[in-house]
Amino acid sequence: MLNTNYPFYLASEPVFANQDLAVNNKFNGELVANVALANAEHIDAAIAAADNAKDAMRKMPSYQRQEILNHCVSRFKERAEELAQALCLEAGKPIKDSRGEVTRLIDTFQIAAEEATRIYGEVMPMDISPRAKDYQGMWKRVPIGPCSFISPFNFPLNLAAHKIAPAIAAGCPFILKPASLTPISAIIVGEILAETSLPKGAFSILPCRRDGADLFTTDERLKLLSFTGSPDVGWALKAKAGKKPVVLELGGNAACIVDEGTDIDDAVQRIVFGAYYQSGQSCISVQRIMVHESLYQAVKEKLTKAVSALVMGDPQNEDTFIGPMISESEATRLHGWVLAAQKGGAQILAGGKRQGAMLEATLLEGVTSDMDINNQEAFGPVAIISAFSDFDQALKEVNNSDFGLQAGIFTKDIYKAYKAWDELEVGGVVIGDVPSWRVDHMPYGGVKDSGVGREGVRFAIEDMTEMKLMVLRTPQ
Ligand code: SIN
Repeated sequence: MLNTNYPFYLASEPVFANQDLAVNNKFNGELVANVALANAEHIDAAIAAADNAKDAMRKMPSYQRQEILNHCVSRFKERAEELAQALCLEAGKPIKDSRGEVTRLIDTFQIAAEEATRIYGEVMPMDISPRAKDYQGMWKRVPIGPCSFISPFNFPLNLAAHKIAPAIAAGCPFILKPASLTPISAIIVGEILAETSLPKGAFSILPCRRDGADLFTTDERLKLLSFTGSPDVGWALKAKAGKKPVVLELGGNAACIVDEGTDIDDAVQRIVFGAYYQSGQSCISVQRIMVHESLYQAVKEKLTKAVSALVMGDPQNEDTFIGPMISESEATRLHGWVLAAQKGGAQILAGGKRQGAMLEATLLEGVTSDMDINNQEAFGPVAIISAFSDFDQALKEVNNSDFGLQAGIFTKDIYKAYKAWDELEVGGVVIGDVPSWRVDHMPYGGVKDSGVGREGVRFAIEDMTEMKLMVLRTPQ
């Protein structure tokens, strides 16, 4: 169902420049397709085209931007299974999760279609003092201009969509660098965008090597950089981005508290999902599980049993829950943290073994706060469990992290829920569920090392537009 060769998209046109990027099946290593790889000249041409398209994009009426987004929604529905297969092969994402991601892609574009027609301004009385009595003000939001987007491998479709769809809604041309390990699904989005009335140059989708991609960050014609990926890379890019604003959606070591009085069967089922779906390769994957001491033993036993039962295998099989990590080197890195924790005195309750890129769903206890598996981002199918006796202390422990993306709190106590919302240093607190929960219109982003700015279509549109004021004097 997939092609064997894919172009990149430069200034809205497919270019089969070369076929230098081999994309492999992450489970068995077989070649999936060859993809054209952009170099610095292509990127420069794409930026020039985006710059040329900025007026046409700015002037495009909102109903047309909405029609373009609606066209994408229809075409994604028609090509849903192809998109899911692309994700499954290029990212090693279990097919059920891949289909789930396509559903979210459709949601994200649908939300953007709705938001496209409601980018409002405000009329502002200016007569706050005698000197301003004959004045009125009004402001509207205008597109910021050409945007630079860099998207990651873990949600190759939906995290690209969180940049592309708001840009179209806002009237901004853009260039996108999809992760070079997983470019195919974004290229298929490009195929669909090319069917629309977007002006020439309004979009470019350019797989390229990281070392050739500097212009995405440094070029001054680009007016916003929005990056989703690893903290190290994200903060380094911000330092090089010059005058342009930067949105960073980075990682975390998300915590989940299970308070006394929680329905533990429900919590265990949600934690298994939140910690291990798509092999834990989500920025909000449950990494640190903190359980009230009254429930600890029971939760530990149920969780250990459930984690040990997760089916690992070929992501194309309908019943696979744990597929490969994105690469053997990533699996080796994380497995090393597990082994180091074990050497330091932690116990492996479930999993713990690795073959190639396949790392078993792993649960640890007895991890100390100085261990990598506690304080670095695991970004894989490994979680740690510990007990607490005092809820306030558990909140402090959640905050005892360089990161702050989302936290999950299972509690039935509304006062504790409010306290968690007030006290936790994170971008979002999810009560009654895991931190891994997200729908695509909610504000999503982190504090501390987890990033800066918020996605979730409406909030991304805020970043992609700026206020423009008009003051009107009416001489009396
Ligand atoms: C992420 O990994 O940052 C995105 C998580 C999600 O969209 O569910």
